Amino acid sequence: MPPCVRSLRPRRSRLTAVLAVAAATVLSFVAAPLAHAASPLRSLAEAKSKYIGTELTGNMVYNSTITSLAGAQFDMVTPGNEMKWDTTEPSNGNYNFGPGDTIVSFAQSHNMRVRGHNLVWHSQLPGWVNGVPRNQVQGVMEAHITTEVNHYKGKIYAWDVINEPFNEDGSLRADAFYNAMGSGYLADAIRTAHNADPNAKLYINDYNIEGENAKSNALYSLAQSMLAQGVPLGGIGLEGHFILGQVPSSMLANMQRFAALGLDVAVTELDDRIQQPASGSSFQQQANDYATVINDCLAVTRCPGVSQWGVGDADSWVPGTFPGWGTPTMYDNNYQPKPAYNATATALGGSGGGGGGTGAGPLHAVGAGKCLDVPNSSTTAGTQLDVRACSGGANQTFTLTSSGQLTVYSGADCLDANGRGTTAGTKVIIWSCNGQANQQWNINADGTVTGVQSGLCLDVTGASTADGALVQLWTCSGASNQHWTFG
Ligand code: XIL
Repeated sequence: MPPCVRSLRPRRSRLTAVLAVAAATVLSFVAAPLAHAASPLRSLAEAKSKYIGTELTGNMVYNSTITSLAGAQFDMVTPGNEMKWDTTEPSNGNYNFGPGDTIVSFAQSHNMRVRGHNLVWHSQLPGWVNGVPRNQVQGVMEAHITTEVNHYKGKIYAWDVINEPFNEDGSLRADAFYNAMGSGYLADAIRTAHNADPNAKLYINDYNIEGENAKSNALYSLAQSMLAQGVPLGGIGLEGHFILGQVPSSMLANMQRFAALGLDVAVTELDDRIQQPASGSSFQQQANDYATVINDCLAVTRCPGVSQWGVGDADSWVPGTFPGWGTPTMYDNNYQPKPAYNATATALGGSGGGGGGTGAGPLHAVGAGKCLDVPNSSTTAGTQLDVRACSGGANQTFTLTSSGQLTVYSGADCLDANGRGTTAGTKVIIWSCNGQANQQWNINADGTVTGVQSGLCLDVTGASTADGALVQLWTCSGASNQHWTFG
């Protein structure tokens, strides 16, 4: 049976249908990714007077894939571990700023600002601090703050002076500082940091304070009383380590009440963890969650920006900290943009996609009314694609990368013209991504998807509308079995 059966509909209505598809495609896929048309996140954020940041830690700063992406897309950096007490003052009075300096240099050379993280925290606190006699803790804390803030003076936009001081019920955590000084350590730490660098914004940063609850209420009262006493508190950091679908609905109101006190309120460590294995629909939910967070920040003048914790999923602390959970960032393990990236770009006023990105989602086979599909979620190289009822599954979720690959399974595999075939009838299969031209595709405004190497069209064999109809390359015909919409 010929693969590209011409439509039996009258010519005029088919043309209308083609135009409708083309219009829908243009609307849903304006990205024009191969032209790198869309602006990077940082330009979009800056146009809205916001920043968009990322965390860098460990070896990330030596990985050129990560640094080029981070430098292009983000304009704020937070060192993940390099400015914490266990790194910066591993023994009393012995300071080590080398790892933090490396990150600051990277940021400066890419015209990015730096959030200093952090000065006083119960965790990643070297053991010697817990052994300091109580009547000496204040002196040790002030010396640490003064030395570190002085070292970075003029290079830090904002400091998380105090990190995670609260218990979930709103009481203060009984750490070395509280035990020695009571609640007075909070104001003392902020004042000490201010004396060392009066130009840095000074933050209290915590988790589970994104919505209105006992913990954020306690922080609100603390902030109010600090401001009443003239303590130079400048901002509140909402870490934003979310569970998929659980961005609190009271987040905007919560941000607004802190802003109304005259404080900045930033999202400092955004990620959105998904129970593994992640499905395609969970990536859509994650995109919604990211959009909610960005929109909340946009709605609050005193929200200066949002920072993500890690660049891509491969960097994330989540799998190590929350076993069974992962894929919480806007880039996948191969640093390809996920739906959350597009949602972020769109929320910031971009076209979604571009800037190394693209779009992600199902490829709808218009003629069949089905979705492009890897049969049985197979991961075997050489498996031929088919069409099947749309499920939102990972085996039907494709990402068009900036180099024109159509990846599946979060970038693990690529859509591939079998054997680099350039003749009609070449099977379209999955294969591990190798950067070759038989794995590059154009999604065209007229609704066709063409192989860059062959120039042929992605085609549902025999114009079948059945589940399991195989997908191949065929001479472009304009028929509906070669029409696709993406996303
Ligand atoms: C995490 C880092 O990402 C990990 O590499 C480290 O092992 C533990 O700390 N809240 C914070 C961050 O304020 O400093 C934490 O960072 C994540 C939770």
